[in-house]
Amino acid sequence: MILVTGGAGFIGSNFVLDWLRANGEAVVNLDKLTYAGNLENLASLKNNPGHVFVHGDIGDPKLVAELLTRHRPRAIVNFAAESHVDRSIHSPGSFIETNVVGSFRLLEAARGYWDALQGAQKDGFRFLHVSTDEVYGSLTPGDAAFREDNRYEPNSPYSASKAASDHLVRAYHHTYGLPVLTTNCSNNYGPYHFPEKLIPLVIVNALADKPLPVYGDGMQIRDWLYVGDHCSAIRRVLEAGRVGETYNVGGWNEKPNIEIVQTICALLDELRPRVAGGSYAQQITYVKDRPGHDRRYAIDARKIKRELGWKPAETFETGIRKTVQWYLDHGDWVQRVQSGVYREWIAAQYERAA
Ligand code: NAD
Ligand code: TYD
Repeated sequence: MILVTGGAGFIGSNFVLDWLRANGEAVVNLDKLTYAGNLENLASLKNNPGHVFVHGDIGDPKLVAELLTRHRPRAIVNFAAESHVDRSIHSPGSFIETNVVGSFRLLEAARGYWDALQGAQKDGFRFLHVSTDEVYGSLTPGDAAFREDNRYEPNSPYSASKAASDHLVRAYHHTYGLPVLTTNCSNNYGPYHFPEKLIPLVIVNALADKPLPVYGDGMQIRDWLYVGDHCSAIRRVLEAGRVGETYNVGGWNEKPNIEIVQTICALLDELRPRVAGGSYAQQITYVKDRPGHDRRYAIDARKIKRELGWKPAETFETGIRKTVQWYLDHGDWVQRVQSGVYREWIAAQYERAA
């Protein structure tokens, strides 16, 4: 089996669902259930013995050591993190706690466990760290896309904390020989995305007849990847990635934010026309820019294609249409997230003892 951390969050829950669908190997899912953790995303696994949920912190050495000893995973996939840039600007402390100190403690526990393994189990063990393209900093329009050997130049407390964790992962390989893999992925979107991030926020606000807030001039560029493609990339890196290497993962979909917002409005105009008439684009509102806002991210994903044969299955057009449709079909999920109810029912309905 494998140990997944942060498997109740946006990407982690998509990964757990995908993993069990794709190969059925059991998953132990360790998640602290911060505001971003939502076990309702995994409700379809309620009676699936291949999924064991454990409510806890990656920074709890005793708990993690116990889990490793009890379940003897062949790999750890570390999604657990604080992930929202705007929150990191307002309160960076939890980003340092989880992304830096928590990752360090998880690495320590993994090292202790791996040290005691022998033979094929030891050779086959992997620690896969899920990271972001934001560690590379900001590009100007003519710059080449980020490659794996780009300098780290993180600009927000979020990206700095992720950069720190990437460095620790690297160091545990070089110093102790821990068999690590790191993926640096661009912006994801898709089902179960918490509606504080741009794409789900715009969909949800549009339907609620609220303003669609665009920071600054809306010309900041991100490289968007459908979450299912990120999951398949992680599966592939875990399967065949070279130990100690990093792999950039991206969708070759560079788009300015304003274009993303306009695309969502056009899809909603088609799929759920406004009751009052007119276009959802009328709700677009330019607001004060984010401090230190990175202007452009772009991923050069040639290494993972060349070495591991991975490429995304979705284009932005197919992925964004699926995503908008998913939110239209899951108004109840949105409503429970927004009201906070998702935090109440999960423990009672789902949680099992470690
Ligand atoms: P998310 O915020 O939706 O989910 C994070 C999950 O981690 C939540 O379930 C939360 O409860 C859990 N968690 C937080 N602190 C924890 C702790 N101390 N111990 C155990 N669990 C804890 O984040 P996401 O968007 O799913 O991102 C997952 C990972 O992927 C993160 O490491 C993030 O940096 C990385 N990433 C995200 C994106 C993106 O576009 N969202 C892109 C590239 C990389
Ligand atoms: P976000 O989804 O927060 O991801 P990240 O900051 O990790 O890239 O934001 C994506 C882009 O959208 C980013 O350039 C900030 C911008 N943005 C807005 O313009 N308005 C918003 O309300 C939000 C949340 C983000």
